[in-house]
Amino acid sequence: MEEIVLKDPLDMHLHLREGEMLKNIIEYTTSQFAGAVVMPNLTTPITTTELALQYGEEITSNSKHKTFKPFLTLYITDSINEEELKYAKNKGIKILKIYPKGATTNSENGLNEILTPHMLKICDIAENMGFILSIHGETNGFSMDREYQFGKIFAKLAQDFPKLKIVIEHMSDHRSIELLETYPNIYATLTLHHITMTLDDMLGGALNAHRFCKPILKTPKDRDMLLNLALNAHPKVSFGSDSAPHLEKNKLKDSAAAGIFSSPMILCALATLFEKHNKLENLQAFISNNAKKIYNINDLQPKEIRLCKKHSWVPTQIKLIQNNIIPFNAGALLEWTQVI
Ligand code: DOR
Ligand code: ZN
Repeated sequence: MEEIVLKDPLDMHLHLREGEMLKNIIEYTTSQFAGAVVMPNLTTPITTTELALQYGEEITSNSKHKTFKPFLTLYITDSINEEELKYAKNKGIKILKIYPKGATTNSENGLNEILTPHMLKICDIAENMGFILSIHGETNGFSMDREYQFGKIFAKLAQDFPKLKIVIEHMSDHRSIELLETYPNIYATLTLHHITMTLDDMLGGALNAHRFCKPILKTPKDRDMLLNLALNAHPKVSFGSDSAPHLEKNKLKDSAAAGIFSSPMILCALATLFEKHNKLENLQAFISNNAKKIYNINDLQPKEIRLCKKHSWVPTQIKLIQNNIIPFNAGALLEWTQVI
């Protein structure tokens, strides 16, 4: 049977959560990926190195796959200072994450304003220390234009700190591609949902809250242009699922939670997508090689994932004790199966 081998798959944007939720979902990632950038927007955000290290231990102690490498991130608040950055750097933290206040889940402690004198100083320090700055780039303007409006801030940071690597997380708007092309130090992560769906897939028929995420899904043009970047494994993009589980009851209530839980079977889903577009040969670069270069990753324990050409299905639901999580594309038929 036809097989492909994926070497060291990496998920460069992942919400693993904490406590019971983490225990229930971690296997979906660690069984497929050699490592992942774990986001710091927990209920108590990871705003200090100590909290990040504790979180790293929680992840490792709950993973059956002992070689899995979590890349920890520090949630930037107005009170971040040079000393904390030095400490983080010494402890091996490479990525700083900026959330604009109120932009998404657990972002209440995020930044009211990005370009303050204090933050510009922090960016200067981050640049000199070799951190990567990862940003949820959205204003609080009209939903469909939030990422585009944030573009000015990306441009200003990229110009003022040319050696600072800046990542546009979960790029969702084709107008952001120009930033990638213009500034050598701007990169992006792409999710499976933004490269395969539009706003209509969420609300064109009956409202589907399981497809509600931030940034919001956009137009066919946005989807197609971003898909093109992924399929060609543009060297400045890497795969970041932004898989973000919420309990079904929190998705279906008023003021539904934003987030799409895409981790289950995601490598098989990506292989199905890349094969459909005759680009399977670029999947390795998109899910690992590009990220290794962008983030200077050279300390992974090697991991090989074998997929064979055989049908599989995305689970229809993940049962937790009290409630379920409904995964992205629940029940969908895939062309590939992971060989365990
Ligand atoms: O849809 C989203 N959900 N977007 C984010 O940026 C955060 C995430 C979450 O943590 O639930
Ligand atoms: Zn996210």
